[in-house]
Amino acid sequence: MLRAVATAQPGIFALGTMSHAYLELDKRQGADHRELVGLVASLREPRTTIGGVNLVAGFRPELWESVAPGTAPAQLTGLTQPVVGPGGYTLPATQHDVVIWLTGASYDVVFDVSRGVVSALSSLATLAHEMVGWPYHRDLDLTGFIDGTENPTLVDAAKAAIVESGVPGEGGSVLLLQQWEHDAMQWDALPVAQQESVIGRRKADGEELDPKPKTSHVARTDQDEFGKIFRRNIAYGTLTRHGTIFVGFSADRARLDAMLDSMIGRGGAPADRLTAFAHALTGAYYFVPSIEALAALAAADQRALNDQRALTT
Ligand code: HEM
Repeated sequence: MLRAVATAQPGIFALGTMSHAYLELDKRQGADHRELVGLVASLREPRTTIGGVNLVAGFRPELWESVAPGTAPAQLTGLTQPVVGPGGYTLPATQHDVVIWLTGASYDVVFDVSRGVVSALSSLATLAHEMVGWPYHRDLDLTGFIDGTENPTLVDAAKAAIVESGVPGEGGSVLLLQQWEHDAMQWDALPVAQQESVIGRRKADGEELDPKPKTSHVARTDQDEFGKIFRRNIAYGTLTRHGTIFVGFSADRARLDAMLDSMIGRGGAPADRLTAFAHALTGAYYFVPSIEALAALAAADQRALNDQRALTT
């Protein structure tokens, strides 16, 4: 007999969308974990051939584990403590209970669905933090460098990002979500050659420097050393305050932890020079379960309701 395969949430791989929203929610005091997961699992994104919105749902690992024990990677936890480098440089821990990532062709539809989601969950959870992201000149981040060059291709991305079948959490993924604010004035004042040595790539075409400086971002996060991840970073903000929403998916949290440690100089190696020009304002780990694991927990009455009515206002 064929074994059922767990399917990753497809929004993780839905490239090319122009508008993004990240909603991080906290469970209301006294709200039942099972009910909250059930309600999130029964959210349905509106689907038309042209104007659809992708919805990816994730949970604080401990919350998911309390509802569906043994179905997340073993020992997976949220970001419970700030990560502090030897000189005191700190990556904050701002863990929430639920994350909903919405992407669509334009912000009007993403906005409507965001509002629908927050309202649908309002009896059990409140919106704690929201971010709106937009692609900057197709594939640049706000440092002006091409971001994503070393991302695995879609064929390999699933291997990097999705827990393999046969182990706890199969078809799911570990998401690290962080808001990094850039120090734009300081960065812009840096000559391009120095910016290139900070990133470890050429600004014009993304070509890797040979040799790449030890303190460069690509050296401090080298996937040949730390393992592969799949990034969906996006720009956010206004002229005065802006930066990068780091959206990293991995089959294994340890790879992301090792990259963070390496970036801030924990473990002996020199820190990533990029951390002098950007600082994290938020940080959390979420478990993004497979479609099947989610569907199994969807509230039955909500399922029927949402099949008839999408979440647009
Ligand atoms: C301000 C925040 C960040 C910015 C602006 C940024 C930007 C970039 C850029 C421009 C590159 C080079 C092009 C590419 O290969 O994609 C890159 C590479 C990379 N970044 Fe970041 N990044 C940020 C934070 C992070 C964080 C927090 C992590 C990990 C936890 C990370 C992991 C990686 C990895 C794995 C690579 C590819 C390294 C390789 O194997 O060559 N980045 N990033």
